[in-house]
Amino acid sequence: MSINIVSCKHLNYLLSASFNPFCLCPAEFWGDIAKDFFWKTKHTGQFLDYNFDVTKGEIFIKFMEGASTNICYNVLDRNVHERKLGENVAFYWEGNEPGDELTVTYRELLQRVCQFANVLKSQGVKKGDRVSIYMPMVVELVVAMLACVRIGAVHSIVFAGFSAESLCERIMDSQCSLLITADGFYRGDKLINLKLLADEALQKCRDKGFSIQRCIMLKHLSKEADETPLGSRSPPAKRSCPDLQVPWNPEVDLCWHTLVRGASDECEPEWCDSEDPLFILYTSGSTGKPKGVLHTVSGYMLYTATTFKLVFDHQPDDVYWCTADIGWITGHSYITYGPLANGATSVLFEGLPTYPDVSRMWEIVDKYHVTSFYTAPTAIRLLMKYGREPVQKYKRESLKILGTVGEPINPEAWHWYYTVVGEKRCPIVDTFWQTETGGHVLTPLPAATPMKPGSATLPFFGVVPAILNESGEELEGPSEGYLVFKQPWPGVMRTVYGNQQRFETTYFKKFPGYYVTGDGCRRDEDGYYWITGRIDDMLNVSGHLLSTAEVESALMEHKSVSEAAVVGRPHPVKGESLYCFVTLTDGVTYNRTLEAELKKQVREKIGAIATPDYIQNAPGLPKTRSGKIMRRVLRKIACDERDLGDISTLADSSVVEQLFQNRCRMGV
Ligand code: PRX
Repeated sequence: MSINIVSCKHLNYLLSASFNPFCLCPAEFWGDIAKDFFWKTKHTGQFLDYNFDVTKGEIFIKFMEGASTNICYNVLDRNVHERKLGENVAFYWEGNEPGDELTVTYRELLQRVCQFANVLKSQGVKKGDRVSIYMPMVVELVVAMLACVRIGAVHSIVFAGFSAESLCERIMDSQCSLLITADGFYRGDKLINLKLLADEALQKCRDKGFSIQRCIMLKHLSKEADETPLGSRSPPAKRSCPDLQVPWNPEVDLCWHTLVRGASDECEPEWCDSEDPLFILYTSGSTGKPKGVLHTVSGYMLYTATTFKLVFDHQPDDVYWCTADIGWITGHSYITYGPLANGATSVLFEGLPTYPDVSRMWEIVDKYHVTSFYTAPTAIRLLMKYGREPVQKYKRESLKILGTVGEPINPEAWHWYYTVVGEKRCPIVDTFWQTETGGHVLTPLPAATPMKPGSATLPFFGVVPAILNESGEELEGPSEGYLVFKQPWPGVMRTVYGNQQRFETTYFKKFPGYYVTGDGCRRDEDGYYWITGRIDDMLNVSGHLLSTAEVESALMEHKSVSEAAVVGRPHPVKGESLYCFVTLTDGVTYNRTLEAELKKQVREKIGAIATPDYIQNAPGLPKTRSGKIMRRVLRKIACDERDLGDISTLADSSVVEQLFQNRCRMGV
């Protein structure tokens, strides 16, 4: 089934004489778009130069070489000074607690960013230095990231739900010189003592021989009356935080508010080359160690700006809301860079869809007259469980476009989103992309592309997908296989930070000449793409990629575990859940206390998102004669599916029956 909603405004724009992508080559297409941005110097080299073929030498992608610009200048100064959008709202910040809110204009944001950029400079941060940011969803997080890019520093944001261990690993990998964090925050009614975790991470770094000299802490929960909030704020809901712990090390720690008080709100941007590093963002790697995905300045800027504008059909009066956290790529590209580059007004939400009740999302939609709403299938499935009534309590009349990202959306959730939330008025843009792609690569254009529930539809302009079979042959027409891309687009990652070899091995080695996504995909008779899920050792839990190897090594660090194997089991809300098989060391008995300890261990090593859903005691694991664990068989056991296929290579098939008998049932 396909559904088409026609919005003439959008089609007219796409087909207008000044912007007709169908008859442009990539250089003309992107060249035309680049004209809207500020360039300190124009590009001199080729518009796009690349090698995607490992057999021909090093993999590289260079876009607009020779041009120099600054992203912060383009998303703030250009909007304030050239486009006269200074008084427009950049963000409506909605806190975790209803009533805690804040409005920030483009002019205010520019001032605050300049101030903080001066603070960073005064702390010795220079162009090219890496700065780690570990903050909740507050406007100051955007301020911190833009202040970095204003002075040419490279931000590395670590999602505030990650553990101290994960933060330490990321700080060390990118050798950050400074950490920016906050005292703490609430997620629903749960207090997160962020500074405590940050300190633990810095101590772990020290123990491993790496020390960060400076840590700037924002007082988010413990702000004093004279520490003026950014922007205009309604009186924050009074809440005492008796459990908030804010350890303070005067050798290292600095207070955000004290530093900005004396800082000038003018700061000349550092002009950066197109291919200078912009940011590093870590994503799970199938070997267990996260990869620092590196994005660079110009290509990422143009790509996020353009995909945002076209995929959300952004119009000047729109109010856009992406519910992701800035700690993930969705927040980088479609809360900060893409929307700000367009001068858009966005909602920035600190809280949860279920706090204080399950109507919160729709209450916010009505409160700010949200026109475009972008969320993950896992959130839709979660809210679906509570039925229509919490949605229908609010009008949602302002909504025009609905988007999803992060995992395949099942048709049932799609239809609920379309019918109940959008009341069949709003096209759904199912956007497929990755941390590595920088922006949307397979996506409908709202109202222009007929929708098929569950399909991310067609490639964005300039993106050339292909489907390969196991031998690396391109399949034509309707087919299923590996999803790859044949040429770069401006926003694609440039390397794995500090590890070009890993970049080439992970994405380019399996099929020379192609960027390999790691996803399986089906193409139907209309040329539509349907993502079938990961085909490497990655799991997608609530739209977040997790590596099975990373969870396994966290489990194996427990003294009672000698071996662990982790697989995915379908979950009605999270998409996939973590099903872990553990073999215990001799003499240890499995019991509830040990199970709780193992869950805690993974949570502490990686973060709450990686908490195992099921742990099964596995005295033996199904292995081939060469000792390789047959995960395919474990997946079947986790799902209680008896059609095991060929298991003749198993060294001892009796373990399989034993595992079937002791498997964890649903809800256990
Ligand atoms: O498996 C695909 C899935 O999420 C992976 C990328 O995860 P990450 O780098 O964390 O970025 C998530 C947000 C962009 C992909 O390899 N994925 C993402 N979007 C979709 C999707 N699967 C199906 N449909 C989507 N729309």
